[in-house]
Amino acid sequence: MEAQLSLPFAQVRERLGRLPGPLREHVERVAREAVALARCHGVDPVAADFAALAHDLFRVEPSTTLLDCARSYRIPVDAVRERTPILVHGAVTAEWLRRELGVHDHGILSAVQYHTTGRPGMSPLEMVVFLADKTEPGRQGESPGWDDVREAARHRLEGALLLFLERHVEHLRAQGLPVLDDTSATLAWVRSRRGP
Ligand SMILES: [Fe+2]
Ligand SMILES: [Fe+2]
Repeated sequence: MEAQLSLPFAQVRERLGRLPGPLREHVERVAREAVALARCHGVDPVAADFAALAHDLFRVEPSTTLLDCARSYRIPVDAVRERTPILVHGAVTAEWLRRELGVHDHGILSAVQYHTTGRPGMSPLEMVVFLADKTEPGRQGESPGWDDVREAARHRLEGALLLFLERHVEHLRAQGLPVLDDTSATLAWVRSRRGP
């Protein structure tokens, strides 16, 4: 708990204040949703709040900046990420938090790093941040809808994750859009956790 008390909320909020209004509002809604979900599932709400507030700090950085940061932070950039640098914003943010703000809580860093695609073996904190990001109330009315996923997340994180990923992948395929390997791997993992 001591580590949580020293989390650099002020520095994160300062950088958050420089983001465009709509993104800042998204982040605030994600943080509220993440804290509520954390309380439903016995996850540390301070860690959830911090990870949610930080998760998109590099979301609107130009592609060249993201790729430069990834290289200087020694974050692997595959061909897919080279073409779509936005995909590294979570990893760059996590590494920035570690290097620049001295955040060493592995659970928080991982929740930030994997908030876009998830990963096999996600922790409850990672699922909380992931689901809060995908289902925050500002996304109401999106197609496909996520209201039932949001409701499901209050009761069972893995069930909600499965519901989200199955619908997300189905939607991408229907649109002829590529499914990232990390997303497929996360879906396969969460399916494998289903009981008989
Ligand atoms: Fe993001
Ligand atoms: Fe986000």
